[in-house]
Amino acid sequence: MKNQVKKILIVFGTRPEAIKMAPLVKKILSDNNFVTKVCVTSQHRHMLDQVLNFFKITPDYDLNLMKPNQSLNELSSRILSKIDVVLNDFKPDLVLVHGDTTTSSMVALAAFHRQIRIGHVEAGLRTYDKTAPFPEEINRQITGRLADFHFAPTQKSANNLIITENINKKNVFITGNTVIDALLWGVKNINEDRVEIINLKQKINPNKKLILVTGHRRENFGDKFREFCEALLKLAKRDDVQLIYPVHLNPNVQDVVYKMLSENKNIVLINPIDYEVFIWLMNQSYFIITDSGGVQEEAPTLGKPVLVTRDVTERQEAVETGVVKLVGTDYEKIIKESELLLDSITVYKEMCKSVNPYGDGKASTKILDVILSID
Ligand code: UD1
Ligand code: UDP
Repeated sequence: MKNQVKKILIVFGTRPEAIKMAPLVKKILSDNNFVTKVCVTSQHRHMLDQVLNFFKITPDYDLNLMKPNQSLNELSSRILSKIDVVLNDFKPDLVLVHGDTTTSSMVALAAFHRQIRIGHVEAGLRTYDKTAPFPEEINRQITGRLADFHFAPTQKSANNLIITENINKKNVFITGNTVIDALLWGVKNINEDRVEIINLKQKINPNKKLILVTGHRRENFGDKFREFCEALLKLAKRDDVQLIYPVHLNPNVQDVVYKMLSENKNIVLINPIDYEVFIWLMNQSYFIITDSGGVQEEAPTLGKPVLVTRDVTERQEAVETGVVKLVGTDYEKIIKESELLLDSITVYKEMCKSVNPYGDGKASTKILDVILSID
């Protein structure tokens, strides 16, 4: 029994990791087989705190590492040195990390250096193109090499690990994606009387088709991001649509978006909104234009068409359902596919299927069962 897991450290740092780890945090904290602590690197600050408040999670350790526009190398080195203090203090038997951020790969590396076992949640997503998504594709490959237990959301992601990367299949578990656990919980707990929702209702024109937009990927910064904004401007010329864009706090996004789009009365720019309000907004939208990973996973469950402003995706399952279509940041392609959705009810209805390629909302229970069986 010497290898049994007794102490678990759950670590995350950005908005999407927090949303996707929240259901698992709740599950593991309520299981008295373990002593569990939660550590946030706070790679994000405001956008992380929004999630912690919504899910009512109080971290035991907060590394408070966000600095405006810090480089990936600075962030990486600060995570490595600060998490080491926590690992030395708590001495966990298992560290759980999520996905593909700088937080996940650096925390996994630090745990490996201290010979602590690592569980990787949302394991096995791959494009096998190190430039896209950048730097996430390499972050997830690093974490995949270091992890002892791989919680893959789908068969495809498990196959990447077992078949392509030769990882022992006894350590790979298909669990579904915890984002669906979070989404289904969130959908049930939307409070339409919230002031943020009431304020948004005043900004949204119910007589127009609402296009919800997000965008923040590093590989799109620069010319590609400007081309994407030009396409939004063109779409906003139509009288029958309104665009709403909660703008990511990364200054590389904020600067371009506010400079190019803020004068347009058909485009509503708002600050990032908390998860409950964002779910409500996804449900209000006619369709979504995004480069977000999480939104690609959530939209099929909600039955909302998504145009993805990326050239490749590791969420191929969503594309195969027909709900999600890749359009890149190409001006003509964004316009053409958006117009098809707006003008052809047949095309629109074909993309409006409610399907669940990422699970049934029980991923965290499955992950907990695996952890309980480790000996
Ligand atoms: C990070 C992740 C990306 C993930 C995204 C989700 C990496 C390398 N990138 O990208 O995988 O998809 O989060 O949103 O791990 N900022 C704030 N307040 C916040 C959050 C960010 O001001 O609450 C600003 C800061 O200036 C910060 C900058 O955004 O330095 C960049 O944040 P960072 O976490 O490095 O990268 P993201 O682009 O957010
Ligand atoms: N999201 C949110 N508020 C917003 C925009 C997005 O709560 O203003 C949620 C969204 O539902 C999804 C997650 O944040 O669960 C996606 O985060 P992001 O796009 O920042 O990161 P990615 O998924 O691309 O890593």
